[in-house]
Amino acid sequence: MNVLRVDAEGSLVHAEQARPEPQASELLVEVAYAGVNFADLGTKDGVPGSEVSGVVAAVGEGVSGFAVGDPVVGMRAVGGYAAYTRLPAALATKLPAAVPLDTAASVYTQGLTAYHLLHTAGRVSSGERVLILAGAGGVGSLAIQWARQEQAGIIAVASTPEKRRHASSLGADKAIGYEEVPALGEQAVDLVLDSVGGQSFGDALKVLATYGRIVVYGQAAGSRPELQVGQLIGRCQSVTGFSISLLGLTAPERFRHGVSALLQALAGGTLHPVVEHVYPWREAGEAWSRLRSRQSVGKLLLAFK
Ligand SMILES: NC(=O)c1ccc[n+]([C@@H]2O[C@H](COP(=O)([O-])OP(=O)(O)OC[C@H]3O[C@@H](n4cnc5c(N)ncnc54)[C@H](OP(=O)(O)O)[C@@H]3O)[C@@H](O)[C@H]2O)c1
Repeated sequence: MNVLRVDAEGSLVHAEQARPEPQASELLVEVAYAGVNFADLGTKDGVPGSEVSGVVAAVGEGVSGFAVGDPVVGMRAVGGYAAYTRLPAALATKLPAAVPLDTAASVYTQGLTAYHLLHTAGRVSSGERVLILAGAGGVGSLAIQWARQEQAGIIAVASTPEKRRHASSLGADKAIGYEEVPALGEQAVDLVLDSVGGQSFGDALKVLATYGRIVVYGQAAGSRPELQVGQLIGRCQSVTGFSISLLGLTAPERFRHGVSALLQALAGGTLHPVVEHVYPWREAGEAWSRLRSRQSVGKLLLAFK
């Protein structure tokens, strides 16, 4: 079968591999679309790709609720940039007829991450002020839309005017550059969604209100934020880490709650996929260079059919 591998120079190259077999608790999926996620860029060796949609080709031992031919979407795929991939059934969802495969792959990982950042990790309540770093990206574009549904006040942070316009069009009340965050002033926001780290984390902490929360879920800037924990005490603030796949594997009911909310929001038209481009799988290198160079807005997909 066709796969895309990362070679020694870090480039994506076409390769042929034997079709895998599903192991216990897994599905084998014939891939229609692979989601391009920021974490994919860190693949050092082997086949990247953690998110796919497609059709179930085989069902592993101990799996119930899925049958060959079912349309599915899932995360934590093993080498998802491939014609077929193994998928943990615990993190897969059988799709209703109303949700096409491209839509599913464009919102699953990022939409569920955004939902649980706000609700599970961030405990957002109506009317709170939320600061969303990388607000025009894949997770950010969906987090703005989820936060809107909570009647939260939304400040999106993005690096270019075009991205800031995009964040505003999705419903952010304000869209600013990273360098403008300190000027928001003390006590400006109740919740921060931080996938950037480094200096941006420190700046966000300075404008965090009493009882405020920062949820850390990525480090796109590459540099680790510094935190003097003593700073948190006087204002009863908290910093929380979050991983969507860990939540899915350890708190399945909570994870499924997000899946139901996602499917309902898609059906009800309250959450709109933001797909910048669907690349044929052989052009995945272009998708990666767009994401790596911070040019992409919303989601990038690879089509395998
Ligand atoms: N923990 C979890 O469960 C989980 C799940 C999904 C994603 N994530 C994390 O969430 C973040 C967003 O993921 P995504 O797939 O939706 O990607 P994305 O937001 O579409 O792309 C990453 C964005 O990060 C910003 N960024 C800031 N500094 C950067 C730098 N030095 N180099 C490149 N980009 C930089 C860029 O936006 P600006 O140009 O506007 O700054 C860029 O567009 C990533 O950090 C990812 O690892 C975590």
